Amino acid sequence: MKLAEVVPWGRSRREYERMFGLTATDLTKRILGVGDGPASFNAEMALAGHNVTSIDPIYAFSASELRERIGATHQTIAEQLKCNVNQYVWTDFQNAEAVIYTRMEAMSLFLSDYEQGLQQERYIPISLPDLPFPDSSYDLVLCSHLLFLYSEQLSEAFHLTSIKELVRVANDVRIFPLVTLDGHVSPHLNSVLEYCKLNHIQADIIPVDYQFQKGAYQMLRLLRKSL
Ligand SMILES: C[S@@+](CC[C@H](N)C(=O)[O-])C[C@H]1O[C@@H](n2cnc3c(N)ncnc32)[C@H](O)[C@@H]1O
Repeated sequence: MKLAEVVPWGRSRREYERMFGLTATDLTKRILGVGDGPASFNAEMALAGHNVTSIDPIYAFSASELRERIGATHQTIAEQLKCNVNQYVWTDFQNAEAVIYTRMEAMSLFLSDYEQGLQQERYIPISLPDLPFPDSSYDLVLCSHLLFLYSEQLSEAFHLTSIKELVRVANDVRIFPLVTLDGHVSPHLNSVLEYCKLNHIQADIIPVDYQFQKGAYQMLRLLRKSL
């Protein structure tokens, strides 16, 4: 991945809690955040004494490189948001400025934690679909705004291999949202559900208390069934 291809945009711990229906018990688990990018979930959780490891190819870049990219790209993302206001539900955020403020605040928290997190191996520069972790090395995997959302860029085969890998490293895998960038249900969702059925994985589509992109209000929860 080249720095010029990175368009950083990150959500907060509160947003993660709502997207994934996280309970107080969930927060105490060994959590793997997949594609966390510049979200502040890891930083905020570490500050509260919780155990989150985040993986993302952008962690190959330094803090100053990511800071520079955030500075170079956030105006463009803000303009796109303002041009597409009809694609969003304006209940949690009053307007585009409020979204941009919240995202910039989250990314600033991420940046302030990033160097220490790299040293502590809380941020690891690796990518789906293959993960270098032993089986069941985490209790819970959270994957926000990567699988399903980028269905046009990431193939069905990529989705199936990734799901297999995520369920291998944790018994409880949650993915949000189930729609693509244009707001339609992912064309890969049915194949993933079929794969789960054939491979003893319980797959539940669960409505959550979070919706910003229209249609993005459900997560997929995968649990390994004991044989
Ligand atoms: C839209 S951002 C979501 C960031 C964060 N999860 C959130 O919801 O705020 C998608 C992230 O997925 C990362 N990504 C892209 N391809 C990936 C892969 N193959 N494995 C892991 N992460 C990937 C990108 O670098 C980017 O940071």
